[in-house]
Amino acid sequence: MMCDAKMNSIGIDSLSFYVPHAQLELKTMAERHGIDPDKFTLGIGQEKIALTGFDEDIVTLGAEAARPIIEAHGADGIDTLFFATESGIDQSKSAGIYVHRLLDLPPNCRNVELKQACYSATAALQMACGHVARKPDSKVLIIASDVSRYDLNTSAEATQGCCAVAMLVSANPKLLAIDPVSGCFTEDIMDFWRPNYRNTPLVDGKYSALRYLNALVQCWKDYQTNGGRSYEEFAHFCFHLPFSRMGEKGHRHLAGLAEAKADPELCKSGMIYNREVGNCYAASLYLSLISALENTEGDLSGKPIGLYSYGSGAVAEFFSAVVQPGYKEHLMPARHRKLLADREALSYDAYLALRDLPDPRDGSAVEMPHTARGRYRLAKIDGHKRHYVDAAG
Ligand code: HMG
Repeated sequence: MMCDAKMNSIGIDSLSFYVPHAQLELKTMAERHGIDPDKFTLGIGQEKIALTGFDEDIVTLGAEAARPIIEAHGADGIDTLFFATESGIDQSKSAGIYVHRLLDLPPNCRNVELKQACYSATAALQMACGHVARKPDSKVLIIASDVSRYDLNTSAEATQGCCAVAMLVSANPKLLAIDPVSGCFTEDIMDFWRPNYRNTPLVDGKYSALRYLNALVQCWKDYQTNGGRSYEEFAHFCFHLPFSRMGEKGHRHLAGLAEAKADPELCKSGMIYNREVGNCYAASLYLSLISALENTEGDLSGKPIGLYSYGSGAVAEFFSAVVQPGYKEHLMPARHRKLLADREALSYDAYLALRDLPDPRDGSAVEMPHTARGRYRLAKIDGHKRHYVDAAG
C-alpha cells in the first residue's frame, strides 16, 4: 500500500452549512402563546427556529451543505461518507446513500449512518481522523443533518430548528487539526429519547440540562487525566447548543471546574449562527464551530479551541482542535450569512401547516409542493420510496 501524503496533522479541511428558506421568529411564537418574548431572547438566548418545507429533509439539507465542498475540492480521495443524524428517514438504508447519488460521489466510497442523539457527528469525526491516520491519502466526508421537532405547546417547542453541516476530514487540513487527546463519558439515562413509533421526542427538559452539565464535568476530568490542555490555553470554546444559554451555563461550569474566571467572550461568537437556527442536534456543535471561526475578530491561527459534544441518553465528549494558519481564506462566511439573511419569516399558522407532513403509510403516491430554495428536493414519495431530484439535471 502506498501513502503519498506527508502527514503532519489530521482534521477538518473544509466546513459548510445549509439552512432552508423558512423560519419562525420566536417573538411570533411568544405572541401566540402569550409569553414574554424576553423569555426566549434572554431566558434561553434564541431568536429564530429554522424550518424545513414539505420537499426538504435531512437528505436535501445534507446534500446542499456538502455541495460547496465538493465543488471546491472535487470528490477525489473521498472513500467514506459518514451521515450523522437522529432524524432518520429509514430504519435500514443510510440517508447518505441518497446524498452519494445527488453529489455524484465515487462508487467505491463506503457509506454509513450514525446515531447517538446529538453526539453522533463527533463519533464520526473521531473515526474519520482514525481512518485518515491509517490511510493518509484518503478523505472522509461527514454530514451532520437533523430536523428538531417537539410537541406543540411544550416548553421545548421554542428550541426546535434544523440545519446540516458538512465537513471534509483529511491529512494536513486547512482549517483545524484535531488533537488526539479527548475526554469521554457515557451513562444510561432517560433525559431525551424518541421511540420508533413517535415522530417527536419525549424529554425531561430540566433533568436533561443537569445531565448535560454533569457530563461536561466528567468529560473535562477525563480530558485532563488523558493529558489535555489547560483551560487557560483555549482561545475559544464551542458547545453543543440546544439553545445558547445552555452553552453559556456550560462555559461558566467549565471555568468553575478549572478555577478560572469565565469570560463570556470566549464562547460568544460561536453562538451567533445557532441563535438564528435553533437546535439542530448532531449539527449543532459544528454550526457553533463555523460561527466561531467566521465571526471571531482577530486571527485564531495556531490557537486551540475547546469543543463539547453532548448527546442525550447520554454520550458526551470534550476534545480540542488547533486553528490552522490561513484558515480564513478557506471559510465561506458570505455564503453562510446570505443563507441566514435571505429567509422568509412565517406566520404562526404557516408554521403549523408545515408540521402537517404527508404520511403515506399505505404506499400511495404523494407529490411534494415545491418550496425548497435549493437545488435538491424530495419530489415525491411513491410506493414507500422517496424520490429525490436535482434541479440541475
Ligand atoms: P422553560 O420552560 O423555558 O424553562 O424550559 P424556564 O421556565 O426555567 O425558563 C428558562 C430560562 O428563562 C430561565 O432562566 C428563566 O429564569 C428565564 P435560568 O433559570 O435557566 O437562568 N426566563 C426569563 N428570562 C428573561 N425574561 C423572562 C423570562 N422568563 C423566564 N420574561 C427547557 C427550558 C430547557 C426545559 C426546555 O426548553 C426544554 O425542555 N428543551 C428541550 C430539552 C433541552 O434542550 N435540553 C438541553 C440539554 S439536553 C441536550 O442538549 C440534548 C438535546 O439536544 C437532544 C439530543 O441530544 O439529541 C436536547
